Parts: sequence; C-alpha cells; structure tokens
Amino acid sequence: MTAQPLLPKNAPFTPEDIDALNSVVARTTPQQRAWLAGFFAGFEAAQAGAQPQLAVAAKPRQALTVLYASESGNAEALAMRTKKLAQKHGLDARVVDFADADMSVLSKAKNLMVFASTWGEGDPPSRAVDFYTALMGDGAPRIEGVRFAVLALGDTAYAQFCATGKAIDLRLEALGGKRAFDRVDLDLDYAKQAAEWTQKALTELAPAEAAGTATVVHVDFKGGGQFADDDEPQFTPENPLTGEIATLVNLNGSGSTRETWHVEIAAEAPGFSYLPGDAIGIMPENDPGLALELAEAVGLGADGAVVQKLRERYDVTTLSRALVEAYAKLTQRTDLAHLADQKAFAKFAEDRQLIDLFERYPEKLTADQLFGLLRPLPGRLYSVASSPKAHPGEAHLLVGAVRWESYGKKRGGVASTYFADRRKVGDPARIYVKPNRHFRLPEDGNRPIIMIGAGTGVAPYRAFIEDRVEDGATGKSWLVFGERNFTNDFLYQLEWQEYLADGALSRIDVAFSRDQPEKIYVQQRLWEHRAELLKWVEDGAHIYVCGDEKGMARDVDVMLGRILAEAARGDDEAGRAKLKELSKAGRYQRDVY
Ligand SMILES: Cc1cc2nc3c(=O)[nH]c(=O)nc-3n(C[C@H](O)[C@H](O)[C@H](O)COP(=O)(O)OP(=O)(O)OC[C@H]3O[C@@H](n4cnc5c(N)ncnc54)[C@H](O)[C@@H]3O)c2cc1C
Ligand SMILES: Cc1cc2nc3c(=O)[nH]c(=O)nc-3n(C[C@H](O)[C@H](O)[C@H](O)COP(=O)(O)O)c2cc1C
Repeated sequence: MTAQPLLPKNAPFTPEDIDALNSVVARTTPQQRAWLAGFFAGFEAAQAGAQPQLAVAAKPRQALTVLYASESGNAEALAMRTKKLAQKHGLDARVVDFADADMSVLSKAKNLMVFASTWGEGDPPSRAVDFYTALMGDGAPRIEGVRFAVLALGDTAYAQFCATGKAIDLRLEALGGKRAFDRVDLDLDYAKQAAEWTQKALTELAPAEAAGTATVVHVDFKGGGQFADDDEPQFTPENPLTGEIATLVNLNGSGSTRETWHVEIAAEAPGFSYLPGDAIGIMPENDPGLALELAEAVGLGADGAVVQKLRERYDVTTLSRALVEAYAKLTQRTDLAHLADQKAFAKFAEDRQLIDLFERYPEKLTADQLFGLLRPLPGRLYSVASSPKAHPGEAHLLVGAVRWESYGKKRGGVASTYFADRRKVGDPARIYVKPNRHFRLPEDGNRPIIMIGAGTGVAPYRAFIEDRVEDGATGKSWLVFGERNFTNDFLYQLEWQEYLADGALSRIDVAFSRDQPEKIYVQQRLWEHRAELLKWVEDGAHIYVCGDEKGMARDVDVMLGRILAEAARGDDEAGRAKLKELSKAGRYQRDVY
C-alpha cells in the first residue's frame, strides 16, 4: 500500500523530516493518531510541570451505574469501556453484571446505562436470566427519578433482533424511569456506532457543567507513557492480525457423516495473546462462486471489482427482515409486501439465503444500491483448542464444516467452508482474540475439573489439559465427550488416550450416539455416573460445558439440575439453586453457541 502524505510541505520541519514523519503517520490508525495527540498534549503539560490535562473539570461529579447483560463478552467490553469514558464526562461509574445484580441496584441508581445482548431465540444471556426475570416481574421497584439509556446488541440474522435490549428499555420506562437518550439496536458490526452512541449518551447523562466538554485521550505518564486503554484487545474484527495456516486436517474418518477440521494458525506478533477458554475470531471470505452468482442476479456479473468486494467484504448470505424491507423499498416491488409479516417472513427465510431473494424477485441494481443493502461480512468465533504455553505463537481451532442443501442448491457456512474448501497450508488467515473471562480454568491447579462437550465442544478442553500439563497442575480432570460414531468421530482420540495414560486426564466417558440402536448422549453418561460426579463436586470440582446450545448444553443443564436435585433428596428447586450457586461461584461455566 502506498502511504498517503499527511503533513503538508509547509509543516515546520525539514523536507526529510516531513517525509520520515509521513511514512510513519500514514500507516497509523485513527486510534493511534488520537493516542499521539493525547500523548503530546500530556507531554507538554508534564514538561511545564503541570499534571497531564484530563478531559473534564473535576466537578460536579455524579454517580453512574453501568449494567450489562452479556454472554460472549461484547456488551461486557462496552460496559467496561464506558466506565473509563464516564470519568471524563464527570461521572463516577460502577459497572455491574446482571449476573451479580439484585433489584436494589435499580432503586439506588441515579443515572443508568444498560448494555444488553440477545441470545438463543430472543432470550437474555444465560447468566443474566435471573435478574432479567426479576426486572420483568411484579416485584421490580419503581424507579422514578432514574435517568437511563439502553444499548442493545444483536444480529439481524435472528428474527428476534435485539429483543432483550428492547424489552429492558421499555421496562425501565414502564417502571417510571426517564429515558435520557434513545436506545440504539446494533448489529454485529457495532463497534463504531456503539462508540458514537456511548459518547452522546454520556453527554446527556453528564452533570450540566461537565457536558459538552471535549474529550482527549488520557495519558498516564506515571505508568511510563502507557496508553490508558492498554487492556483493550489489540487485534479486533476491524483490525485483525494476519496469521498463516500451518496445519489444516479433517479429524473425522472417511466413513463419517461429520467433517471437523483441526486448524493451526501461526500468529507470532507482539500483542497477540490469549488464554485457554478464549475464542479466536476469524475474518473469512465468501465463496467466490456465490459472490459471482449474486452479482449476476442483479446484473453486475461482469464487474470484477463488484464481485471481489462481495467476496471479501460483504455478508452475501444472510437473509434478514431488514434487508428484505430495504430491497422492497428500493425496488418498489409490491409482491414483497407480504414478507413484512413476521410469520410469512420466517417461513420464506427458512432454508433460504440472499441469492434466493434476488433470483425469486429479480431486479437490476447499481453497485452502490447493492452494497447499500448489505452489511459488512461479520467474523466468526472458534473456541481456542490450544494452550499458548504449549504452542507459543500459534492458535489451534476445531472447525465443524456446515453444509446443507435446500431449494436445489448446495450451501455452505461461510467461515467453516472457508477453512474446509478454500484455504490450504501456507495461506493467510485474518484473526483476532475474543477473551472470555467466564470460561477459565480454576486458578488453583489442585482443583478437579469436569469437562463436558460434544463435537467441536471438546476444543477448549484440549487447551485446558495442555495448559495444566505445562503448569504441572495436579488437580484431577474428567472429560465427558459425545459425538456420533466411535471409529470416525472421536476427535483428538490419541491425545486423550495419551493424557489418560500419563495421568494428565484422570477419567474419560464417551457417548457415541449412533453406535447402538438407541441414541446415547453425554447427559446420559452424567446420569449413569452421578454418584461420582457429586463426589467430584463435593471435592470442589469446576464444571464446564461447551458446544451446541440447543443440541446439547440445554439438556446437560437440565441433567445437572436433576443430579443435584437427587442429592437434595429429589427437590428440583434445591437442585436448580445448587447449580446457580455453583455458577455464581464460577464453578459452573458454559461456552455455548
Ligand atoms: C463463542 C463461540 C465459540 C464457538 N466455537 C466454535 C468452535 O470451536 N467450533 C465450531 O465449529 N464452531 C464454533 N462456533 C460457531 C461458529 O462461530 C460458527 O457459527 C459456525 O462455524 C458456522 O459459521 P459459518 O460461517 O460456517 O456458517 P454461517 O455462514 O454463519 O452459516 C450458519 C447459518 O447457516 C444456516 N444453516 C446452517 N445449517 C443449516 C441447515 N442444515 N439448514 C438450513 N440452514 C442452515 C443457519 O442459518 C446458520 O445460522 C462458536 C461460536 C461462538 C459464538
Ligand atoms: C447462539 C447465538 C444466538 C443468538 N441469538 C440472537 C437473537 O435471538 N437475537 C439477536 O438479535 N442476536 C442474537 N445473537 C447475536 C448476539 O446478540 C450478538 O453476537 C452479540 O453481539 C453478543 O453480545 P455478547 O457477547 O455481549 O453476549 C445470537 C448469537 C449467538 C451466537
């Protein structure tokens, strides 16, 4: 890429210095330039013997409660960032997870910001369910005098887009709160809009004297010139790291109905680090054949630049209601009006993708019109399957290929077939780290761990065991693994057997659903071995569940409740309460999708 000069020729430097500065500055991101601006402002102040200037006058300060409901950490990260920004707006913020909150947090709040994501099919994140239910229930307190603003996160691919944030926003109003700033509902490419909304909402909520004051990046000189946002991930969907695929192998046997790829990505870069339990985000590219088909469907097939952009940058598969509405408006097609009805849309969209809309309701579009309809291609997350202690400079993933057929077309998941069909060893892969502090090994390596997962859900457990081996941890470990078939689908079988032989893994139970006439799943194995499981729990075990939510994690959750209920002499409520207690203590953690 050729660097664009930024400093003008008449800048107060020699021509050589201007060239040198331009060559560096032209490669910087807006965030890095903001940092430089803050750095030099603070540096001058420090040279003059003054304190680095903070953005906002210190008075009068007010309290802000920042509540978040989050499953995979997006809303949580926004809440944390808001706390830092609030300081600069004259607000003293405290951040509270829905998981740790009770109703008093609402009645005590003066200014309230809520960041909430939606999961399942329009549900609150699992850790947020209790507080959310109480908030919606009759016992929720009146909150007259509380000023609030809600940011909702979601994915327009889901029918119940941002349902949780929407419901919270309406509920806070119904309870007497005053909406200080309008809610925003954000799709997967939320970063920029979330930052803008947060700035504006904080300005509305800030004490009058502090509102409207310009914000500069705070520079901590005492910390050796460290950027205050050091804990922010360096690599993001917007700024991924380009790694290289070092290994790409299908772990299933040739007779399998599954296709599960073990992917090793070499990613050596300062600032690239992760922990077992985190996910790695991958920025994929679309199937070039589909990109071409889509361009052809709207009369742009001959334009190579359009096809390339479709392949690299845009979501060309998701058929969302918002997109259909925008297409109907743009094309003025009255025969799309019936899809405004939620049920009719759901029936149409089931098993269909964008290409089906364009082929069934064909119209010629300009490139701008086409791109205006599409959202950016979102990244996909994969639970990291390696410990960085065992594989420095590498991240391993376990990717299940998603394939199906509908309406006479062969279809494939974008990211999973990107690995399975369109990448080879030596190819680049753009990645970022998605930390997950709610799926962590116990700090105490002596603690027993029970790892329950089916299919690709086994990925983080490979990372866990590798990490414990590197640490020389002595705690017992028990893997309960499920898949379809022993011969073809026992993912990482040799590694588990070696770990079992050398004691790194204390116990393994497997459930291969299709190896006998009746289906057997991991939850049945838990029930069969419940006495042992309860003993491990008594001994302080941490329980982990990873993998498919609908196909496995939900049933495992019910089964764990049942097992704990039996221990409480059949009292279901006591069983659920014990599971919640374990969850609150960080001893029941889920990474489900
Ligand atoms: C925190 C987290 C961790 C994850 N870890 C892993 C992991 O370790 N391994 C792993 O493999 N995945 C993991 N996933 C899932 C992963 O992120 C992707 O969602 C998955 O790989 C599919 O992505 P894709 O781009 O291939 O498919 P997409 O292009 O996203 O397509 C998937 C969509 O296709 C449609 N679809 C799929 N099958 C059918 C069908 N039979 N009929 C009709 N429509 C269908 C559905 O609408 C589905 O949502 C994780 C997800 C999260 C959130
Ligand atoms: C399994 C799954 C189910 C989801 N269900 C919904 C949904 O019903 N509605 C929605 O708007 N978004 C849905 N999403 C998208 C999430 O809300 C979105 O990824 C959000 O940014 C996650 O934020 P969090 O990390 O704070 O939980 C779903 C995501 C996943 C992985």
